[in-house]
Amino acid sequence: MSEKEILEVSEAEIAVHWQEEEYFHPSTRFIAQANMTDAGIFDRLSLDNFPECFKEFADLLSWYKYWDKTLDTSDAPCWKWFVGGKINASFNCIDRHLAKYKNKAALIFVPEPEDEQHVVLTYQELYVRVNEFAALLRDFAGLKAGDRVTIHMPMVPELPITMLACARLGVIHSVVFGGFSGKACGERAADSGSRVIIYMDAYYRNGKLLDHKQNADIACKVAKEEGQSIDKVLIWRRYPGNDSSDTPMVEGRDFFVDEVLKDYSGKRVAPVQLPAEAPLFLMYTSGTTGKPKGCQHSIGGYLAYAAWTSKYIQDIHPEDVYWCMADIGWITGHSYIVYGPLSLAATTVMYEGVPTFPDPGRPWRIAEKLDVNIFHTAPTAIRMLRKVGPDEPPKYDYHFKHMTTVGEPIEPEVWRWYHKVVGKGEAVIVDTYWQTETGGFLCSTMPALHPMKPGSAGPAVPGIHPVIYDEDGNEIEAGAGKAGNICIRNPWPGAFQTIWGDRDRYVSTYYEKYCKNKDSKNWRDWPYFTGDAAVHAEDGYYRILGRIDDVINVAGHRLGTKELESCCLTVEEVAEASVVPVADEIKGRVPDIYVSLKPGYKQSKEIEDKVVMSIEKTIGKIARPKHVYIVPDMPKTRSGKIMRRVLAAISNRTDVGDVTTLANPEVVEEIRQMVQGD
Ligand code: WTA
Repeated sequence: MSEKEILEVSEAEIAVHWQEEEYFHPSTRFIAQANMTDAGIFDRLSLDNFPECFKEFADLLSWYKYWDKTLDTSDAPCWKWFVGGKINASFNCIDRHLAKYKNKAALIFVPEPEDEQHVVLTYQELYVRVNEFAALLRDFAGLKAGDRVTIHMPMVPELPITMLACARLGVIHSVVFGGFSGKACGERAADSGSRVIIYMDAYYRNGKLLDHKQNADIACKVAKEEGQSIDKVLIWRRYPGNDSSDTPMVEGRDFFVDEVLKDYSGKRVAPVQLPAEAPLFLMYTSGTTGKPKGCQHSIGGYLAYAAWTSKYIQDIHPEDVYWCMADIGWITGHSYIVYGPLSLAATTVMYEGVPTFPDPGRPWRIAEKLDVNIFHTAPTAIRMLRKVGPDEPPKYDYHFKHMTTVGEPIEPEVWRWYHKVVGKGEAVIVDTYWQTETGGFLCSTMPALHPMKPGSAGPAVPGIHPVIYDEDGNEIEAGAGKAGNICIRNPWPGAFQTIWGDRDRYVSTYYEKYCKNKDSKNWRDWPYFTGDAAVHAEDGYYRILGRIDDVINVAGHRLGTKELESCCLTVEEVAEASVVPVADEIKGRVPDIYVSLKPGYKQSKEIEDKVVMSIEKTIGKIARPKHVYIVPDMPKTRSGKIMRRVLAAISNRTDVGDVTTLANPEVVEEIRQMVQGD
């Protein structure tokens, strides 16, 4: 058995022994107001009606020119949706709402310091600010449709303004999570060929105003090393007119946006009419090999999918106050803070800081003050709030009709706390399963149509047709109690179009595994491979077990183990590195790192610290390991392959299994004692 097979079999075993959870039902009150109460939706979006059934997604949008071909498969598996259509995402998220909603809040920004007032941007104000910044991007930065721009910004209203200004011009934005390092930003800027990068000078995190601008210098340097020169760095200021960062400006390269914007005051920019299949943005995500992949999303298909799922699965109405407590630097924030809610003329809330700052009552105070009625977050935040403030929610007078959990599996116990305490037993919950690549939800209950089952994402979203395959491509039936690789049989409008600059990697990573005929132009021959293991229960609900590739899902965010390992190897003393996921009470999973040293070096705290530093500097604090263990040698197969499985078992205190066939079985016990004590 290969290493992978052993892991999968053990996951399947776990799955079989899982108990079935009881259903929870949506309230009649929720159902009475829900956007989707028609069970006929599943028939309408069945495979028999594919692909024309996706017209109802496209019809949520306003088109300059209506499209004439729903799905073009001629370049399989690079699918093109709504071909012939002309559209603009910024127009769909702003301009078209003005007639009816110009004075309605589009965005409410909640700063982390509690004594700073929240900021409301109406649709009219958003319109003005996006237009002025679009004029600056076009006339000052010289950007036009098809150019790429890398945006390394925290959770401030200037971030969606920047994205929507890019979208207005057809400039492809690539947002890098604010918590990532300057190096990570530089690498992504180079990969995407950005000659302009956009920064914020500083932002609040846990009560401290952090200097973010310093990362811009590193980003420019790293991009340059990779052959991409950055001509302009545009820097928004947290407090316009005031410097919050000590990092000096680079003459001729760095510009404060608030200063330059003065020249563009009152300017309007007509939205550029773009082909539906033109790219809207890139979002980089970790994969099995070292380099992050730039997932390319289209304008028409992506926006249609984000809008439809926001309307029917998030149940967003224009009257709602919707708060997704994710970061816009991840796909969740793109689809479900910015593009989905704004395309529906909703009020979307964004919060700058840490959920537990200054105390674990903070999210519920925000909910009370703004009268939020839809709440969206991830299991890692729910676990944290449950741990540090289990009794906080009842102290505040807010009422959620709907709540979401996303990004990683949620333990049924945690789900029940979320339902009972955070949702006060009133809110419906959707556990939404999806990926950066998929643009929007793949599995979820339809909130007014299905009962909820703690720990299960639910059935597929209407229009999505999953299948679970075993390693050999045999279908595993629902109710078989066996885990397998969850794939999607059909294309859908939200699916990414390709990996930026690497079509071969796109095909081989996502479509080759179960493709029977590589020359086929028939979508039926190209199931989408998610890279996740799942079990399909008899009732049709999917339980997602996690990644089957070398990716660790830390607090709902994907980190490539190879990326982490190659960081460790930049430490001079390190000879070999191996990274394994270890269970963590709050974050779900965190990396544990094992390194062995080059000859002549001795184990020391200093080397351990260097390893941690290398990771924080190269990737960001989010990837900080739980432990660094310096081991005398790695457990290896006779062919010299490091047995991560054995190290993972040691870190997680599970059975290491049979190690007698290893080249160096004795080292296993030595490492075990070191990690676990006796
Ligand atoms: C995992 C985040 C269980 C899964 C939107 C997937 C989940 C990866 C769920 C994608 C869920 C996401 N239940 N696991 N509801 N949602 N995942 O690209 O392993 O950051 O492949 O997208 O998160 O992470 P990504």
